Amino acid sequence: TKVDLSIGDLDKGDFDHFMLKEIFEQPKTISDTYRGRIRPNQNDIVLGGLIDVFPKITAANRIIIIGCGTSWHAALVAEYLIEEYARVPVEVEYASEFRYRKPIIHEGDVVIAISQSGETADTLAALKMAKSKGALILGICNVVGSSIARETDAGVYTHAGTEIGVASTKAFTAQVTVLSLLAFKLAKERSEIDQEFYEMLIGEMLAIPEKLETILVGHPYIKTVAEKYKDAVNALYLGRGYLFPVALEGALKLKEISYIHAEGYAAGEMKHGPIALVDDNLPVVVVSAKDSYYEKVVSNIQEVKARKGNIIAVVTEGDNGLRKMADDLFEVPESHPAVAALLTVVPLQLFAYYIAVMRGCDVDQPRNLAKSVTVE
Ligand code: G6P
Repeated sequence: TKVDLSIGDLDKGDFDHFMLKEIFEQPKTISDTYRGRIRPNQNDIVLGGLIDVFPKITAANRIIIIGCGTSWHAALVAEYLIEEYARVPVEVEYASEFRYRKPIIHEGDVVIAISQSGETADTLAALKMAKSKGALILGICNVVGSSIARETDAGVYTHAGTEIGVASTKAFTAQVTVLSLLAFKLAKERSEIDQEFYEMLIGEMLAIPEKLETILVGHPYIKTVAEKYKDAVNALYLGRGYLFPVALEGALKLKEISYIHAEGYAAGEMKHGPIALVDDNLPVVVVSAKDSYYEKVVSNIQEVKARKGNIIAVVTEGDNGLRKMADDLFEVPESHPAVAALLTVVPLQLFAYYIAVMRGCDVDQPRNLAKSVTVE
C-alpha cells in the first residue's frame, strides 16, 4: 500500500482511518521535515528558523525540553541524542509539572517546547513562565502560527501536515526528525563530533524514508500478529537507551486507542516491579536494535521467557539470535542507533492500530481523549 500523494490531509483516500493513512504517510512526512534543512551535498544541516539564535544554543549551559503526551516522548529521544552527541546537559519534563514546581531557570538556559498542535495549555503556560525568567524559548510545533509558535523566540516547524487521528503518529516521527537534526547540528557546532561522523549521521537520516517503506510493506504480517494478541488485558513494553522512549510511545499508542492497559518501562527497571506481572497471558513487547544495549536486552528477554511471558520483539533485520527467543518478530532495517527510534516506533503504531480496529474501537476518536488539550 502506498499513499496516494494527490490525497489531501483532510481526506482518508483509500484508508479506513486517518490514523492508518498518517502512519503510511511517514516516509513522505519525514522527508518533508528534513527537506531544505540538509544541504544538497549532504555535508551540513541548516535550521532556518534557528540561525539567529544558534550561537546562543551552542553556548547554552543547559537545555530544558517540555511537552505533554507523545511530544514528551519525542523530548526524551532528544535528551539521549543531545547529551550523547552534543554533550549539553538536558532535562526533560512534563509541562504540567514544570509550570507548577518552581523550577530553577537561568538566563543561559534554553527551553524547548514541543507540541504538535502548538495549543496545549500546560505547554504554553510553562513556556511563558520560562520566558519570564529570561531563558531563550524555542518551539517545535506542527501547526503553523499556533499559540506556542507565536510565543517563542524562534523555532522549527515539523512540516508533518495536518494530523487528524487523535493518537499522534506522523507528528511524533517529524518531531524526532527535527530534534535529531538539532542534536547533530549542535554536536558539530560544539566540535563534539567531526565532519565525517556528522555526514554519516546526515546520511542515516536521509535513508530513513526508504527504510520505512519496507516496514510499511510488511503491514499484513503485523496485522496477523495483532490478531493473536487482540484480547490481551495488559501489555508491557520494554526498551533501553533511545528505544526506551519508543517503548513508552508504543504503550501509549496501545492504551489510547485499544483501551488495553499498557505500560512502557526502561527494560532495566523490569526487575523492580513489572516482572511481577509476567505470566503466560502477558504480551511483552521488547524494542531492540543492534546497539550497545543489545546483550542487556537479550537477558531481559530471557527473564521474561523464564516466566512464560509472550515476547513480541522489534528487531534489526537478520537478527537470528532474537528470532529464536521471541514468539513474534517485527523486523526493521538496520540503521545507526541514533536514528533507530524513527524506524522501531512504526511497527508499534501499526500493531496498536490493528488491535484497536479488531476490538471495534473508534481509532481516530478514542473515548475521553482530545487531539488538542487547551484546558488544564
Ligand atoms: C493530547 C493528544 C496527544 C498529544 C498531546 C500533546 O493528549 O491526544 O496525541 O501527544 O495532547 O499535544 P501537543 O499538541 O502539545 O503535541
